[in-house]
Amino acid sequence: MVGPTLQGTKRYIIRRMSSLRGMTSLYNLQIDKNMRIELKYFTGTGNSLKVLNTSKDVFTEANHTTGISAIGLNEKSLNGSDLLGFCFPVYAFGIPRICRKYLKKMKKFNRKQNTFIIITAGDPDESGFSVNECVRILRKKNCEVIYTAVLQMPINWTVSMNPPSKEEYIPIIHEGVKQSRAIATDLLNGIKKHHTFNIPKRYGRFGLYKEYLLFKYLGIYNLWRLFQVYDSCNGCQICSKICPTNSITMVGKKPKWGSTCEQCMRCVNFCPNKSIYQSYNGDTTARNRYYEPDFKPSLRKDLA
Ligand SMILES: Cc1cc2nc3c(=O)[nH]c(=O)nc-3n(C[C@H](O)[C@H](O)[C@H](O)COP(=O)(O)O)c2cc1C
Ligand code: SF4
Ligand code: SF4
Repeated sequence: MVGPTLQGTKRYIIRRMSSLRGMTSLYNLQIDKNMRIELKYFTGTGNSLKVLNTSKDVFTEANHTTGISAIGLNEKSLNGSDLLGFCFPVYAFGIPRICRKYLKKMKKFNRKQNTFIIITAGDPDESGFSVNECVRILRKKNCEVIYTAVLQMPINWTVSMNPPSKEEYIPIIHEGVKQSRAIATDLLNGIKKHHTFNIPKRYGRFGLYKEYLLFKYLGIYNLWRLFQVYDSCNGCQICSKICPTNSITMVGKKPKWGSTCEQCMRCVNFCPNKSIYQSYNGDTTARNRYYEPDFKPSLRKDLA
């Protein structure tokens, strides 16, 4: 009995100190029992999975039963759990279209569902409306959003900017993992925190709205049309096998992109010959490639 009592006292002190500091408030979670925790992610290059897997480790170490899986538009609605967590990347100040669709399609929970959201961003100042978008949809689904956070992870938008080199991205990942452990620990201590919306310094209010609306209503629906391959493409099919939305078909040994593409950059960053680029300023010849080093995308088996 000594263990649980000491743990309970420690947790009480942490919660009390946090509330006295005025930074946080507390939420009501039965953290002493074995909780059932469900974690859902979308990832192009592994950052969001790394962050959520780190939280999973913390929950599992504390003896909570934790499941983690990718979102899928054809999956059955969630049944409800003691704690539900999402982790998505930010795309042009919003969430990926597939994540928005998934959240909107989710069935309303019968009971209040404690939920947390983590957004991974190349620049934490540029998370835009991503958190707010999730919160707005989740509240309609009877979710009590108890914790929201934006974590910096390496930029993967290779057709738009140069991702960091290995020397540059290792410390960024290290810090992201540290922060995701801290978030999971906060959650287990019943601490409630919320990301504060801000206008990105580099863009200003006008730039933020312009980029967000253009990308949401035009970009994602059309940017797949810009994909091209250099002569170095040898038809290996890897891009087609790893695409999370099955948006690439091989036509005459060359990849062809389709409209379900989410611009997740997995194909661009994993192509072994660095062959993929986009027309209109999307030349990738001189750019680094990035994916989270532990990330191993699964391969579609229906292609020979
Ligand atoms: C199409 C696209 C748009 C992006 N837009 C933003 C953005 O607006 N702000 C930002 O900070 N990072 C942006 N990024 C960077 C990603 O959000 C970041 O690298 C994220 O951690 C990638 O996560 P993943 O590896 O789980 O896919 C963008 C990346 C892509 C591919
Ligand atoms: S992964 Fe690269 S080399 Fe292989 S088919 Fe796709 S574009 Fe061509
Ligand atoms: S085609 Fe490429 S960028 Fe588009 S969803 Fe598939 S892997 Fe991602």
